[in-house]
Amino acid sequence: MGAKWIKVSVFYFLLGVGFGLYMHSTIELQWAATHAHINVVGWLTTVAIGLIYSVYPEAGNSAMGKAQFWLYNIGLPVLLIGMFIIQPAIPVPPILIELTVWGGGGALAISILLFIANVFTNVRSRDHV
Ligand code: HEM
Repeated sequence: MGAKWIKVSVFYFLLGVGFGLYMHSTIELQWAATHAHINVVGWLTTVAIGLIYSVYPEAGNSAMGKAQFWLYNIGLPVLLIGMFIIQPAIPVPPILIELTVWGGGGALAISILLFIANVFTNVRSRDHV
């Protein structure tokens, strides 16, 4: 699963840098938190998880690792959409903001708890190798 996580992460890197360039060129800085989450959660956190699962494939390929992959990769884009539409410049019904931020953020939070549990369950010392 490590390679899959790393491939997903580079899409966020591209999106985050592109979004940063857009904000910079238009001076539309109200999306700084969205941009920061695309880069820091989407790119850096995702690539870190991918590297850990590349070193410990048994953790990445476990049932917990797979469940975490789907919760994370459905939750994060939904949360980011919520963080984007929360700005007054985007006229959407408040319920849509609540659903995306709480739904996406909730799924992401559960996936992070699963990741922590997975690390403690399936990442083992390789000192004997
Ligand atoms: C070409 C690349 C990038 C451009 C043009 C860019 C542009 C920007 C801009 C215009 C802001 C808003 C600043 C403000 O509100 O005054 C910002 C904020 C931020 N950027 Fe980037 N960015 C880029 C890449 C990255 C990368 C690669 C990361 C992290 C890995 C990153 C992390 C952040 C963070 C954490 C903030 C929030 C700072 C704050 O709110 O105090 N950016 N960026």
